[in-house]
Amino acid sequence: MEPVKIGFVTVSDRASQGVYEDKGGPAMQAWIDKALKTPWVPVARLIPDEQGLIEQTLRELADREGCCLILTTGGTGPAKRDVTPEATEAVCDKILDGFAEQMRAVSLQYVPTAILSRQIAGVRGSSLIINLPGKPSAIAECLEAVFPAVPYCIDLIDGPYLETHDDFIQAFRPKHAKKPIAET
Ligand code: MTE
Repeated sequence: MEPVKIGFVTVSDRASQGVYEDKGGPAMQAWIDKALKTPWVPVARLIPDEQGLIEQTLRELADREGCCLILTTGGTGPAKRDVTPEATEAVCDKILDGFAEQMRAVSLQYVPTAILSRQIAGVRGSSLIINLPGKPSAIAECLEAVFPAVPYCIDLIDGPYLETHDDFIQAFRPKHAKKPIAET
């Protein structure tokens, strides 16, 4: 079986201009590397906070690259240039409010400023898109909070069957959910 593709989009004016190093992209990839047992390859992008460009990048990773999961980092706050949630909403067919609710609820246990993140998640075709805040520690905190539901969500949108390293994070699937025979 071909490795599944996972999209990683760092949205940052300054990191994309080389003013500072992109720490978010590598942090997302490192977390997924620990979480996923299913072979995967990254499709990574580093772009400025431009809504049109974010939308174009998300469409490219979903439609052309066929990424079953696309994680974004950055641009979720209230600053004038922060437009990642708007771009995500514009390209998604459905918004999954539960992801945002859970990420903010868990994040608030770490920092009161978690309330400032407008992060959302949704599906476009067979791709699940999840916004994460820009701070590397926030990336792990948010992924830990929602990832157990990610593999089953991807089953439901006809994506690949993802398996996790259970000692790191356990995927939850309802009892009736079966592993497809073709991929056993
Ligand atoms: N969420 C978690 N789990 N941990 C954090 O440290 N920082 C917050 C918030 N969410 C934070 C967090 C802060 S300070 C901001 S401004 C917002 O995410 C938005 O960040 P962004 O604009 O980099 O996406």
